[in-house]
Amino acid sequence: MPGLGVRRIIKAGRVAKHINDLIASRRALLGGLVGFPLLDLAACATPASPSATQRGGFASVSSTNADNVTLPPGYSWRKLIAWGDALFDGMPDAPNLDAMTRTDQERRFGQNNDMLALFAAEYAFPPPKTQDRMILCANNEYTSLELAFPALRSPRDITAEQIEALYAAIGVSVVDVARDGTGWRVVKSNGAGGRNRRVTPFSPVMFTGPAAQHPWIVAASAIVNAAEPARSGATAPANAVRCGTGANCAGGLTPWGTYLTAEENFDGLFAGALDIDAQFNQPELAIDASSFGYPGAGFPDKAPRQFRLSENPHGPSLYGWVVEIDPHDPTSVPKKRTALGRKKNECATSAIANDGRVAIYMGDDQRDEHVYKFVTRARFDPSNRAANMDLLDRGQLYCAQFGEDGSGRWIALTLDAANAAAAAEDSPLRFRDEADLLVRARDAARFLGATPMDRPEDIEAICDENWRGLGPVLIACTYNTERGFAHPGNPRRADPDHPNRAQSNLTGHIVRLDETNGDSAATTFTWDIFVMAGDPNAESATVRTRGSGAPAFVSTAINGEPTTSGERFACPDNMFIDSSHRVWIATDGSDAVFENCNDCLMMTPVAIERPRPIKRFLVGPVGAEICGPLMAPDENAFFCSIQHPGANDVAGLDFATSRWQGAAPMSHFPDGGDAWPRSAVIVITRDDGGRIGD
Ligand code: FEO
Ligand code: CA
Ligand code: CA
Ligand code: CA
Repeated sequence: MPGLGVRRIIKAGRVAKHINDLIASRRALLGGLVGFPLLDLAACATPASPSATQRGGFASVSSTNADNVTLPPGYSWRKLIAWGDALFDGMPDAPNLDAMTRTDQERRFGQNNDMLALFAAEYAFPPPKTQDRMILCANNEYTSLELAFPALRSPRDITAEQIEALYAAIGVSVVDVARDGTGWRVVKSNGAGGRNRRVTPFSPVMFTGPAAQHPWIVAASAIVNAAEPARSGATAPANAVRCGTGANCAGGLTPWGTYLTAEENFDGLFAGALDIDAQFNQPELAIDASSFGYPGAGFPDKAPRQFRLSENPHGPSLYGWVVEIDPHDPTSVPKKRTALGRKKNECATSAIANDGRVAIYMGDDQRDEHVYKFVTRARFDPSNRAANMDLLDRGQLYCAQFGEDGSGRWIALTLDAANAAAAAEDSPLRFRDEADLLVRARDAARFLGATPMDRPEDIEAICDENWRGLGPVLIACTYNTERGFAHPGNPRRADPDHPNRAQSNLTGHIVRLDETNGDSAATTFTWDIFVMAGDPNAESATVRTRGSGAPAFVSTAINGEPTTSGERFACPDNMFIDSSHRVWIATDGSDAVFENCNDCLMMTPVAIERPRPIKRFLVGPVGAEICGPLMAPDENAFFCSIQHPGANDVAGLDFATSRWQGAAPMSHFPDGGDAWPRSAVIVITRDDGGRIGD
C-alpha cells in the first residue's frame, strides 16, 4: 500500500516464536509433508479427485507489463465504476478531478477501491444464487495525493479545501448495480430512491459494544463533533460521532446481510506531532502511537482539525475497528463494533459455527502482528433479520497461537488472563477494564502469546451453502521485510547458495487452519502451509528484487519439496473461494519481486495436494494492486478492484516522487489514451456467457 509514511514498531511485551520458525521445526518433527492424516489438505469439504473444473479450463495468462487488464482468451472486462464517477442523477457522470470538492466527492465513487461485496437487492437467507439487481459495497482504502488533482504542480500548493476533498474520497461506496442484456451496470440514485451513498471520515457513526465509552474515545469524539458540526436535517442520533470510517482495506459480509468494513492503516489519517508530555504522562498512549505508527505523513497545518494530533491526541482511538453497515437502508448509521478489538484490521470474514453462533476471522496486517477470531455470544436467527443486527456487540475475542507440532489454539483475550500474563513478564502495563483491553487488543494478544505473523491479510473460511463454516480457513500472509535472519525453521532458509544469509520472507505464503471438529467456534485447530508464494521453477533460488535490489529467496519449496507448480507470484493479499473451492488470490506487490509482470490474480484449487498448481487469470495495469476478488452469486461474472494504477512505473519508480519532478502519468487505466489514471471496479465475463474459470 503506497502513500503512507514509514511506521515505527516497538514491541510491548514478549515476542512469541515466529510462525515461520514453527513451520520448519514442525517439518523436522514430521520428517515430511504428505500423508499426515490430520493435515490432509484435500480432506474436508472437497472431493477426492479434482475435476477439470477445479483445475480451471482457462489458459494461464503469461507475464506482462502491459498497461491494461490482461485476461485468458475468451474473457473480456469492462469498467463498472471508477474513482469520481457519479452516484446520483443530475450530476455529470465523469468527474472534473481538478475541481473536486468535498461536497462533490461525497456524491461520487471514492478513490483507491479495495474490498468488494455484493448483496441481494432484497435480503434473503441463504443468499439467492441468481440476481439481476444487487448492492455493491466497495472500500475506498486511502487517498493518493500524487494521483489526485492533475493540474497540481507541487504538494506545497495544495489547499485545505483540496485536502478535505481527499479525505472525502476515503471510506465506503455503496452502489446499486443491475444486470441487463449488456452486463452489469451502476444504477444511479435519484431523489425518490436508491441506496447509493458514501460513508467517509466525516460521516456520523455509532460506537457500540464494551469499549464504546472508553475515555480515549469519549475525549476524541467531543473534539471531532466540535470540529465537524452536525448537518442541518441530519437524522443521526445525538450521540453519533462524526468521525466516519477510514483506512478501509478488506472486510466481510454477515449472514444477516450487512457489510463489515475493516479499518487498517489509520495512522495515515493523522498528521502532526503527538505532544511529548502527553506521551510521557500516558505510557499506554506512547505505546499505542509507536505500535500503530501514527502520525502518518500529512499536512498538519491544512488537515481537518480532528486529524491533527496536536489538537486531537486520542483521535486514533476512533479507528482500527470493524464497522458494520446496513447497505439495504441508506439512512442507517454505521456501527463501530468495539467487541471485535482495535487493530489494523485487514478483514472480517464470517462463518456460522455448528451451534449457530457466528465466528468473525480477522488479520492484523502489520509485520509480526496477529490473527484473531471473534465468536458471538448469541446465535444467528435465519428467520428474523432484525434479531441479528447487534450480534457483534457481545461475544469473545481470541488470538491465534500456532504450535510447533501443527496444533494451535485460540486464546481468549480476557482481562484477568491479560493482566496475569503482563504481571508474569514483570511489565508495568495493565488493562483497567474490558474497554481498555479491546482498545489495546494488540498488547493483550502479545502478552497472551499470540503468534507473530508475516502480515496477515485476507482470511477466507470454506463454508457450505448455508454459510456454515466447514473447518478449513486460509490466511494470506503477504510478506515480511524485517524478518531478516537465517533462522532454523524459516521455510526460506534452505537457499542452497547462501545457507547462512539473512533472509526475509519477501514473497509471502498462505497458511491453512482446520478448526477442530469442523466447528468455527472451536478453541483449537490444526494448521499447515497451503502454499509458499514464489517461483516453483526458479533456476536460481534468489532473484534481485525491483524495489531494493536486495536478493530475495523465491523458491516455493519447504525442505526441498515445492509447494506449488505452474506460475510464479508473490505477495498474496485478498482471496475469494468459489463454490468449487477454487481459491482466487490477488497480489499486492508481486511486481516488486517479479518485475516482468504487474500485480495479478492467481487461481489454485483447494482439493489438489502440493505441489499445488497455480494458474494466472488476470494481470493488472502498470502500478496497480489487484484486490476485492469476487464472483457474482451465479459465478458468471467476476468483480475485481484495480487499485492505484500508475502508482509506479514498470521499472518500479514511484509516482509519488517522480510526479513532482515533471513525470507524466505512468498508467492511463481505465480510460486509455492519455487519460489520468483512476482506481476502478471492473467486471469480467466469458464471451460465451459461461461460468468463470471453468
Ligand atoms: Fe490494505 Fe493489508 O492491505
Ligand atoms: Ca494491500
Ligand atoms: Ca489488503
Ligand atoms: Ca476475501
